[in-house]
Amino acid sequence: MAGNSRSSIHGQWSSRWVFVLAATGSAVGLGNIWKFPYIAGENGGGAFVLVYLICIAVVGLPVMIAEVMLGRRGRQSPINTMKSLSQEAGASPLWQLLGWSGVLAGFLILSYYSVIAGWAINYVLEMGAGTFSGSSAGQVKAVFDELLADPLKLTLWHTLFIIATMVVVARGVRGGLEKAVTFLMPALFMLLIILLGYAMNSGAFMQGLAFLFTPDFSAITGKGVLIAMGHAFFTLSLGMGAIMIYGSYMRSEDSIARTAIMIVAADTVVALVAGMAIFPIVFANGLEPGAGPGLVFQTLPLAFGAMPGGLLFGTLFFILLFFAAWSSSISLIEPAVTWLVENRNMKRVSASIVCGIATWALGMGTVLSFNLWAEVKLFDMTFFDLLDFLTANIMLPLGGLFVAVFVGWIMSRQSKADEMATKHLFAFRAWNFLLKYITPLAVVVIFLQSTGLLAKITA
Ligand code: PHE
Repeated sequence: MAGNSRSSIHGQWSSRWVFVLAATGSAVGLGNIWKFPYIAGENGGGAFVLVYLICIAVVGLPVMIAEVMLGRRGRQSPINTMKSLSQEAGASPLWQLLGWSGVLAGFLILSYYSVIAGWAINYVLEMGAGTFSGSSAGQVKAVFDELLADPLKLTLWHTLFIIATMVVVARGVRGGLEKAVTFLMPALFMLLIILLGYAMNSGAFMQGLAFLFTPDFSAITGKGVLIAMGHAFFTLSLGMGAIMIYGSYMRSEDSIARTAIMIVAADTVVALVAGMAIFPIVFANGLEPGAGPGLVFQTLPLAFGAMPGGLLFGTLFFILLFFAAWSSSISLIEPAVTWLVENRNMKRVSASIVCGIATWALGMGTVLSFNLWAEVKLFDMTFFDLLDFLTANIMLPLGGLFVAVFVGWIMSRQSKADEMATKHLFAFRAWNFLLKYITPLAVVVIFLQSTGLLAKITA
């Protein structure tokens, strides 16, 4: 059966452009602006950035194309898509597990993502109230520390963010998702450019660039490489079905490869611009690049507090950061919601409520991990650290690995060629080759080296 004859019961994007915006909305989020700078800072800068960029090119892009293609061919929730497509390929129904692990990963990620997005909400208010005007680095840090020490405040913003997410998800593809993404992404990008302009004049621009782009391989560890690869999946929303479900709403006539390239490029540019805006500010103010999850919240307010018009730009910036997080969070939970609609016969609204409550409850663990439970650790990680590590560095790369194996080895060439409808035979072959050999190899090697096993095997 040609995948093109299926259509999704959940709807379809109204144009190719909307798919690009929605998928970019999913990809561009806290990962780019909050996470990328701080993990780059913690892992020594240049070499980490280089490994990340290589992973984006040889692992991220091919898996992005593969996930969009699977989604569009299956046109159902990732779980049911994997069920139909494994049937179509005469493969084991166990491939559904790929969908299940994605649903679980999305749920786990959203639970902490929402808490961090809540910080952004808090900063909209602080910025708008002028808290940071003329503040010193110490004062800015104190505001951040105070926020983290306050479980009630964190809970309030976390609750608000989950509600915002679920309202959009409940309204469905056209009513909710489309409307939310069409103008936010361009606006966010504009503000990043303004920040970049400020950073250029901060006096430490070259130092910031050198930190980000001069690879010093002695600064990166095996674990750093794993984190860089994990982040390539995280930032592109891969390995958990978000891009798959968005692909399932894509029109049959649109080109998958070209679209995927645009999304990957946009996501990467946003992360690099965020890094180039943040590190000069870090160095100009004698801050610590390895400050951890608070990095953007401790650097940008300092810049806004010192620049003319900073009150306005700063407030706008955190509003847009909130929106960027919002357009990502809806895609985190969409796979679970569509499954409940398809298999449990639920209405979209009820399915969204159920998912929202469950994620909210789990998110309380993250809220507490910054204060009351800060000392509760497993493998030396707090609840938040553990969820982040497990999802971004283990579950997503595993999900991506299995997507690559399924598309590279299990799916028939005919099905792939049908869906890709490409005139560029060379590009198609190159993509197929990457998926078959390079992507799985890269993921496995990075997993092994991060545990030290590779060194033992090759010794
Ligand atoms: N890509 C998003 C970000 O960078 C996070 C995300 C991960 C969204 C996985 C959906 C799925 O913030």
